[in-house]
Amino acid sequence: MTSPVETIAQWQEEFAAIRRDIHAHPELGLEEHRTAALVAAKLREMGIEVHEGVGRTGVVGVIRNGNGRRIGLRADMDALPMEEETGLPHASTHKGRMHACGHDGHTTMLLAAARYLQQTRRFDGTVHLIFQPGEEGAGGALAMLEDGLFERFPCDEVYGLHNRPGMPVGQAGLRPGPMMAGVAFYDIVVQGRGGHGARPEATVDPVVAGSAIVGALQSVVARNVPAIERAVLSVTRFDAGNAYNVIPDRVRLGGTVRAFSRTMMELVEQRMRAIAEGVAAGFGASATLDFRVLTTPLVNDAGATEALAAAAAALGATDADFPAVMGGEDFAFMLEKVPGAYAMVGNGDTAEVHHPKFDFNDAAIPHGAGLLAAVVERQAPRV
Ligand code: NI
Repeated sequence: MTSPVETIAQWQEEFAAIRRDIHAHPELGLEEHRTAALVAAKLREMGIEVHEGVGRTGVVGVIRNGNGRRIGLRADMDALPMEEETGLPHASTHKGRMHACGHDGHTTMLLAAARYLQQTRRFDGTVHLIFQPGEEGAGGALAMLEDGLFERFPCDEVYGLHNRPGMPVGQAGLRPGPMMAGVAFYDIVVQGRGGHGARPEATVDPVVAGSAIVGALQSVVARNVPAIERAVLSVTRFDAGNAYNVIPDRVRLGGTVRAFSRTMMELVEQRMRAIAEGVAAGFGASATLDFRVLTTPLVNDAGATEALAAAAAALGATDADFPAVMGGEDFAFMLEKVPGAYAMVGNGDTAEVHHPKFDFNDAAIPHGAGLLAAVVERQAPRV
């Protein structure tokens, strides 16, 4: 029996063309109208039941084949607000938008897996093909969950993939437990009392208070987060005045926090609030913290990780102890509801994701698609 990778590789030209078409027409989060329509049309061509508008621009395909386990396979569809510099024939035709994270490839791999599963049906159960919008900070996973994703399309397990530049094509990497960090963005507004730069005694200088807050925030990870945990707190913005002789009335700090558990994320937020308010008060100023959690930490289920790693090992090289990364991924919200696993798949020697010269490697299509199909055949075996 040929492997799913071999079968899907026979359709390489067709799916590479689909991938390049999506690449040339990138759409931002929750605005993936063309992409969603293309996905729905391709699924219908394959004879697959299609549900559109799940979480705004999300699409779900359903393949039923017996009463076995119900497996969810998820891909993201959105692009990034940046200018493409690849100069490729299939480069973005939309100014200021680019598929720089390879979600065009993820969408295509899931379409290829859908074709394979629909045609071969070497499984017993139901496959839910989840095409998610808005992964890049637009809340697409939550939008689908709030639209009843797992109530309408119940899953016993759910799996997802992301391409990884620098990893050889055909290779996969994953780990059980926390694999990607939870992500928060924050703003701190320090309110002082502005005035003349030559008469600071008549002001409450928010620049000095804000600077002290930046310094004190460095103690949160160093002194409050236990050494065996991992977290990052970065101040990346400091917007103050714009004149040489004016002490501004207020300043705004902003940045990002990364942590591998909800508990640590809450601890960091709590300490940041205490420091911002307390330090500002010490200078006679006041401060408010606006802390927004964008994605929860991505935690792979142990059993599902074993299953996905075994499926990957049967197809090629696998690193089942792939190091956790500080980047975020909103598939994490789906993994909070349904046990599952997420893997990195090799994109070969390409530019990094989110780089203006990045392009998804079409050679990876049969490998990623084959892995998604293989985990279905493994977890919902034909009896
Ligand atoms: Ni991505």
